[in-house]
Amino acid sequence: MNYIGSKHKLSSFLKKSILSVVGSNISNLVFCDLFAGTGIVGRNFKPIVKQVISNDVEFYSYVLNRNYIGNSEKLEMEDRLAFLNNLEGKKGFIFQNYCENGLQNRLYFSAENGRKIDAIRKQIEQWKTSKEVSDDEYFFLLASLIESADKVANTASVYGAYLKKIKKSAQKNLLLIPANFDVTKNSHKVFNEDSNTLIQNIKGDILYLDPPYNARQYGSNYHLLNTIAKYDEFQPQGKTGLRNYYRSSYCKKNEVKNSFEELIKNANFTYVFLSYNNEGLMTEDEVCTIMKKYGKYSLKTTNYQRFKADKTENRNHKATATVEYLHILEKLV
Ligand SMILES: C[S@@+](CC[C@H](N)C(=O)[O-])C[C@H]1O[C@@H](n2cnc3c(N)ncnc32)[C@H](O)[C@@H]1O
Repeated sequence: MNYIGSKHKLSSFLKKSILSVVGSNISNLVFCDLFAGTGIVGRNFKPIVKQVISNDVEFYSYVLNRNYIGNSEKLEMEDRLAFLNNLEGKKGFIFQNYCENGLQNRLYFSAENGRKIDAIRKQIEQWKTSKEVSDDEYFFLLASLIESADKVANTASVYGAYLKKIKKSAQKNLLLIPANFDVTKNSHKVFNEDSNTLIQNIKGDILYLDPPYNARQYGSNYHLLNTIAKYDEFQPQGKTGLRNYYRSSYCKKNEVKNSFEELIKNANFTYVFLSYNNEGLMTEDEVCTIMKKYGKYSLKTTNYQRFKADKTENRNHKATATVEYLHILEKLV
């Protein structure tokens, strides 16, 4: 998924850096990805640690992580996927509120894909209610739907706005692609809580932190993924059909430092790693000052080309050079 702040492209830098501090054999350690987003960081560590604890406050992210991290035993889902892919479209909440030819003509999806999303989403829920699918299977199917719908969304990148005309990739028919996960011997834990609340109830060895670094709230930028994941009914607000959303203190200039320090203070982990970049609400010095109070601090950096989507077109992505920091703390417990 094309996700704000995704660490997909930084995966090998992160893994190499973390292993160089903690040691190369981490098979007995518990790794926590507290701001998990797409789950890509936890997914990279899942096969090589004793347990991953994954968390994100947004429900669509919980769904992805409940599948990619929480699922560890093989599932046979080909028949269910084929059934869903062959369903006749249905006019439901997504079609009516977020599609071409819907009540408000909000062009987030083509009419056909909107009807398809409704039909698939309803069927998945019906299987869950009638207990024809287990929880593991339910989240596998939902994660597959979220990612497959995102591929045909008619946006420049996020759901803060839709494009005026249905772009080429959004004209393609939605095809449910399996959200395949790694099978592991060990089991893992997935939460959907505020980081600062959860941190008081968990412990482990390696804590990886990748909070938002600027004022862009994930709940508003990905509201439609939450709506597909929750499939609840509400009154969509304004031109973009926004729902009520969670406002993270990590996106607020006047709250971020207090929240961050409280998090570091309460962390019951030996090693803490924080990803942040040079455009963040906290400066490098501010982060360093806070972390230093709680143990041995060091810093690794890497240059990184970030691509910004143009607001109105889906081309002309602008590349900007940013510095990605990995702040490291060996905590005195
Ligand atoms: C930079 S993104 C993480 C990206 C992730 N590492 C990846 O590669 O996909 C930050 C994430 O923090 C989540 N978030 C924001 N505030 C939070 C909070 N207070 N507690 C838990 N998660 C939070 C957002 O929903 C978002 O998914």
